[in-house]
This record gives sequence, structure tokens and C-alpha cells, in this order.
Amino acid sequence: MTSTSQLIAMIRSHAAGDSDRFLSIAEHIASDAASSGKKKVAGDLQTVISAARAAERGRPAKPTPITAPRGELAGLVRASYPEIQMSDLVFNADQSRRLTRAVREHREHEALEAKNLAPRRKFLFSGPPGTGKGMTAAAMATELGLPLFTILLDGVITKFMGETASKLRLIFDAMSTSRGVYFFDEVDALAGRRGAENDVGEARRMLNSFLQFLEDDDSGSVIIAATNHKALLDPAIFRRFDAAFVYAKPSVDEARRVLRNHLLQFDLAKIDWQSLDGALADLSQADLVAAASDAARDAVLDHGAELSTKLLKQALEDRQSIHPD
Ligand SMILES: Nc1ncnc2c1ncn2[C@@H]1O[C@H](COP(=O)(O)OP(=O)(O)OP(=O)(O)O)[C@@H](O)[C@H]1O
Ligand SMILES: [Mg+2]
Repeated sequence: MTSTSQLIAMIRSHAAGDSDRFLSIAEHIASDAASSGKKKVAGDLQTVISAARAAERGRPAKPTPITAPRGELAGLVRASYPEIQMSDLVFNADQSRRLTRAVREHREHEALEAKNLAPRRKFLFSGPPGTGKGMTAAAMATELGLPLFTILLDGVITKFMGETASKLRLIFDAMSTSRGVYFFDEVDALAGRRGAENDVGEARRMLNSFLQFLEDDDSGSVIIAATNHKALLDPAIFRRFDAAFVYAKPSVDEARRVLRNHLLQFDLAKIDWQSLDGALADLSQADLVAAASDAARDAVLDHGAELSTKLLKQALEDRQSIHPD
């Protein structure tokens, strides 16, 4: 018989969102049933429990609620819980395959660990502005059910001897205690190539400690570094990463997908996509998102919410003028 205390414990774990505990109690009930001869009840229970466990595994875990970074750490990292998913991003096939694989390594880390392998955790993203580096870091956090910790470089980099190194240590220590995706945006500020002239300066010290912390890190956290200028990075940094992803401005096909994804509320059947190709040149994915919104606003305010090729073309051309010649 299911005891009242088991029922209470199940309700409590349900209320706390602890489905693992909920299912463990259900397993106890099933095994109690089996040992008191109720084979059919036990079998039925075990079937639904297994199905629930399998469904649970396929779903990204919810982020572990953590307290916001406190003390000195509060000025060094910002915690957030993004909701962006990988499917919100437009990628080329190769990038998509590699990122999906990286996420899968974490979701299925147990299978890897059983064979003495570990998921890759240290990634370098490089490429021009507005191509999805920051957005991928956020999507990675969502997909893994982890908080995103964005490193606040202004807080980390100081001109005082050794201070940056001790701030970096705090961040790298936090990676073990608060598992998450740690995002070092514009990492060239931290790990830029150093010339011989400032070899003994604070910049060299900062670079060396970053390289050392990155190399020594064996936390379970994911570390993502992003840069617009890969060539500015100190060459010693590359081997510290497990994988590098190169971002680029979109192909014509990708550009069309970005526009379509942001204009779902309009009828696009009459859009002459080919005639827009010329207006896409040089625009980043971020530019395209902005142009789509511009065109959408024009359509709603001046054209009875009808989006035409002409409006879209105008918005794309207007966006071009944002770029330096
Ligand atoms: N690959 C993409 N697919 C869909 N939308 C994108 C993509 N890349 C960028 N965007 C859009 O552009 C915005 C800015 O992108 P994001 O911040 O990821 O760029 P970034 O590569 O980090 O740029 P920066 O180097 O300037 O920091 C996103 O919020 C999103 O709306
Ligand atoms: Mg960014």
C-alpha cells in the first residue's frame, strides 16, 4: 500500500519541481508493490516511470537557481537566464552541425564519461560584429539549462599590478562552485598579442594569468571567449581551447532566412527575393534583423500592414548606410 508519507513526499517534490525525487518515490512504490506480490501493478508503474525518465532526459534541464554573484564577484560577472534557443539562430550547415554536437556532448556526458571521455568545454568564437557570437553563448546556456555568466571586462581589467590576475582568479574559482556558461566577450582586451616592448608590463601579466587559468581549469563549466579580431589574439591562446567557431556575414540564403524569421506576421508570398540580393551585400545578421523591423514598422504605419518588396528593399538600403564606406 502507498503510505500517506510517500504521498506527502511526492506532492512536496512535485511542488519543488524536483521530478527526479518524485520519480524515485514512485520507484519505491513500484518495488513495494513487487515485493508484496502485486506484479501487475508493479509492472504498470515501472513502465510509466521509465517513459517519464526518458522524456526527462530529452528535455534540457531547468537552470539551477543560484544566488546572484555577491561581494567582489558581483562587479566582475553578470548572471542571466537566457531563453534564446539554438533554433532561433540562422547558421550554415557546418556551424549548425558542430554546435549541435557540442551541446549533445554535455547532454550525454554520462555516456562519454563511462568511456573516460569528457565533453568539450572551452570554445573560441570569432567573426565580425552582429553575426551571432553572443547569441550563441546565450543559446548554449539555454540548451544546457545553465545560467549565463557574462564577464564584465571593465571590472576585471585594472592598471594596478597583479590586480587583474586576482580578479581573474575569483572568476575561475566561481566556475567550480557555480556551474554555468562563462562568456568572455571581446577577449582580445584580455588576451591580445603582446609586443616585446611591454613584455614586462601589466598587460603581459594579465595575458599570462588568463592563459594559465584557462589551461588549469577543470571545472564543469563551459567557457566561451569571443572576438571580432582573431588575428589580435596572442597565438599561445589557441591551443587552450577545445574548439573554435568562425562566424561570418550571411550567405544570400541565410540572409533570406533571417529576414523571413523576423517577418512571420506578414504575408511574404509576393516578395521577390531575388531582386533584394543586391541590397543584402555586407549586411550582418544583426543588420538584417534591424532592417526587417524597420520594414515591418513602415508596413504597419503607412501600408495597411502589407509588406512589399519595395519596402523591404528600402529598409535594407537604409541599413547599408549605417556602415562606414
Ligand atoms: N546567426 C544569427 N541568426 C539570427 N539572428 C542573428 C544571428 N546573428 C546575429 N543575429 C541577430 O543580431 C543580434 C546581435 O547578435 P550578437 O550579439 O550575437 O552578435 P555578435 O556576433 O556577438 O556581435 P559583436 O561582435 O558585435 O558582439 C542578435 O540579437 C540577433 O537578433
Ligand atoms: Mg557580442
